[in-house]
Amino acid sequence: MKLTIFGTGYVGLVTAACFADVGHEVFCVDIDATRIGTLQRGEVPIFEPGLKELVVRNAEAGRLVFSTDARAGVQFAELIFIAVGTPPNGDGSADLRHVLDVARTIGEHIDGYKIVVGKSTVPVGTADRVGATITETMAARGVAHVFDVCSNPEFLKEGSAVEDFTKPARIIVGTGSEIVRKKLHDCYAPYNRNHDKLMYMDVRSAELTKYAANAMLATKISFMNEMANIAERLGADIEEVRKGIGSDPRIGYQFIYPGCGYGGSCFPKDVRALASIAREAGFGADLMQAVERVNDAQKDVMFQKLSQAFDGNLEGRTIALWGLAFKPNTDDMREAPSRRLMEALWGAGASVRAFDPEAMPEARRLYGGRADLVLASSPQQAAAGADALAICTEWKQFRVADFAWLKANLINPVIVDGRNLYDPEQVRQHGLLYYAIGRGDSV
Ligand code: UGA
Repeated sequence: MKLTIFGTGYVGLVTAACFADVGHEVFCVDIDATRIGTLQRGEVPIFEPGLKELVVRNAEAGRLVFSTDARAGVQFAELIFIAVGTPPNGDGSADLRHVLDVARTIGEHIDGYKIVVGKSTVPVGTADRVGATITETMAARGVAHVFDVCSNPEFLKEGSAVEDFTKPARIIVGTGSEIVRKKLHDCYAPYNRNHDKLMYMDVRSAELTKYAANAMLATKISFMNEMANIAERLGADIEEVRKGIGSDPRIGYQFIYPGCGYGGSCFPKDVRALASIAREAGFGADLMQAVERVNDAQKDVMFQKLSQAFDGNLEGRTIALWGLAFKPNTDDMREAPSRRLMEALWGAGASVRAFDPEAMPEARRLYGGRADLVLASSPQQAAAGADALAICTEWKQFRVADFAWLKANLINPVIVDGRNLYDPEQVRQHGLLYYAIGRGDSV
């Protein structure tokens, strides 16, 4: 099948590469000429395991094309995916500018029947607005082609995006049209083999499903972080509590890891956007607001623990920081807890010596040139001679630490672990002070 994809960010690029890999002919359009140039050279601007190989292989085979030519894109395929960003507005609502720009572009160049597939995370009702925009734009041109708009939200996770796309838990299609169902069924058939993962529903339910899924996951995390804060004050160990509740299949073990707060481009933005959509519809959405508030407060916990370890005086201290990305296997630092920590430390007069396996270029882009940030070339280089060690991301390589070495090389024997990576008993045996999340007796 021929497919056009507008937007070559995480969702667009992964969708395009995975569809091309099963033999579809995919035409990708982006208004960012630099990005398109990079992709045309076979370079992938984001770090995502397995993606570069897919892009190169399929571009070389001629099945994956990158272009800034929107007209060619609209006319290339019957199926047109919209996978452009929906950044937050100042009030937390989603900014639909890019989505509606694509709708206008489609209206300007449409030359026959099209199925417009919404992949971006968008407020409920956006498919209707996309449809209205296409109709208005066509009317201004004096044409009236038939088209359908459906919602097909994407659930991939950064760091395992290719794997998630190729082995989806579900493929949601919001549409009332039989033709759309059939086309999307054929398009996804290669990734829908062992049992049918396609779920059809109305457009608005599909749009809300995406928000509800992220909101549920974010709620689980904020719930656990709240429990961790309670456990800490009551002398209980949240890691024991986690296992104790996870064993109930109604609760489950997944997504109940306490930490220094969720980050990334999705949860914070989507929880706020859902609260904003609800508000606009006249509903308070108290739970969503609380989830956001708890997360915001959790991002301060690392700094508070460091501050406590140094009796409130961090002036002139150097803190080693392991992990800058908002989670492992990505170089993404959007809304990362590490940023809140670094900014608070700088505000208190401390400096930071940081290491991350993938996010160093991103850290340089965001904070390069600061005298109070050193980007180290290894975890050891970050820690040697630092006053204390803080850990914000649970990269595999941090899971096994040489505590005897840390004791000998940190000026003060302090580890603040925002991901509960270590056995408190083992750390303590080495004479280190260990501040974790929700582990009351670990200090
Ligand atoms: C999330 C969803 O998991 C995807 O299903 C969704 O498609 C995506 O948003 C999106 O809307 O595009 P992602 O932002 O890549 O994916 O990251 P997650 O793996 O979900 O992690 C989010 C944050 O939660 C991270 O900061 C992570 O450290 C934190 N987390 C996760 C916890 O603190 N505890 C946990 O138990 C799990």
